[in-house]
Amino acid sequence: MQEKIVILTGAGISAESGINTFRDAGGLWENHRIEDVATPEAFQRDPHGVQAFYNRRREQLRDPAIRPNAAHQALARLERERPGEVLVITQNVDNLHERAGSRNVIHMHGELLKARCQSTDTLVPVEADLAADLECQVCGAAGCLRPHVVWFGEMPLEMDRIFDALAGCERFISIGTSGNVYPAAGFVAEARAHGAHTVELNLEPSEQATAFAEHRHGPASERVPDYVEELLAGG
Ligand code: NAD
Ligand code: APR
Repeated sequence: MQEKIVILTGAGISAESGINTFRDAGGLWENHRIEDVATPEAFQRDPHGVQAFYNRRREQLRDPAIRPNAAHQALARLERERPGEVLVITQNVDNLHERAGSRNVIHMHGELLKARCQSTDTLVPVEADLAADLECQVCGAAGCLRPHVVWFGEMPLEMDRIFDALAGCERFISIGTSGNVYPAAGFVAEARAHGAHTVELNLEPSEQATAFAEHRHGPASERVPDYVEELLAGG
C-alpha cells in the first residue's frame, strides 16, 4: 500500500499530554544520563536500573491524566477520512496514537507497553512491572525479557517499509521532533528528493527546519488540528 501522506512524530506531539520530551528544558534525559538507561551496555551493566526506568515510564502511561491530545486525535481523524492514504511513523514509545484511533502506525523506536524475548525476538505485552530476574514467559530463562525499545547504538525498526513510504508519498509532515537524531532527522530530505511537499509543525524551528518547504510553529494541539482541517477541506 502506498500512502500519500506520511507523518513523522516525535516527543513534542505527546508533550501536551503530559509526557516529557527528551531535549526540552526538564526533558527526560536531563534526569537520566542516556548512557545509564538507553543503551545495550547499560542493560548489561545494570538490568535492574534500566528495567526500573522503563517501569516508571509505563506507570506514567497508565496515569488516567495522560491521554491523547487534540493533535493525536486530528491525525486519527485524517486517517479515518482518508482511508489507506495516511501513515504515521512515530519515534515515540507511548501508545497515544493508537488510543486516539490511529491504526496505520510504525513505532520505529519500539513500544513501551511491549517486551521482547531476547532468545526468540517474540514480543509480549507488558501488563505489570518488568523485574530484571523475571522468568521469560516465552523461553523460560530468567532475566531474558527486555523492553521493546530501540536503544542508542541499535537499529530503528521497519526501516525498509519507512523508506518505501518516503519514496512514494506526496506529502511529508513532521510534528514535534527536534530533528537531532538520525535516521529520523534525514526523512525530510528523503521525501523531498522524491518530490513530496514537506511541512514542519513544531513548537519552534527544528534542526532540520531549512529542509522543509512549509513551516507552522506553535503547539501541536493547535497547529495539527488546523492543518488537518485545511487538508480535509482540500487545502
Ligand atoms: P543517534 O540516534 O544519536 O545517531 C544515529 C546515527 O546518526 C549515529 O551514527 C550518529 O553518528 C548519526 N548522526 C547523529 N546526528 C547526526 C548529524 N547531525 N549528521 C549526521 N549524522 C548524525 O544514536 P544511535 O545510536 O544511532 O540511536 C539509535 C536509535 O535509537 C536512534 O534512532 C535513537 O533515536 C533511538 N533511541 C530511542 C530511545 C527511546 O527511548 N525510544 C532512546 C535512545 C535512542
Ligand atoms: N507542540 C509541538 N512541538 C513541541 C511541543 C508542543 N507542545 N513541545 C515540544 N515540542 C518540540 C520541541 O520544540 C522539540 O523540537 O518537540 C521537539 C522534541 O524534541 P526532542 O525532545 O528531541 O524529542 P524527539 O525529537 O522525539 O527525540 C528523537 O531521540 O533520544 C531519542 O529515541 C529518542 O525518540 C527520541 C529521539
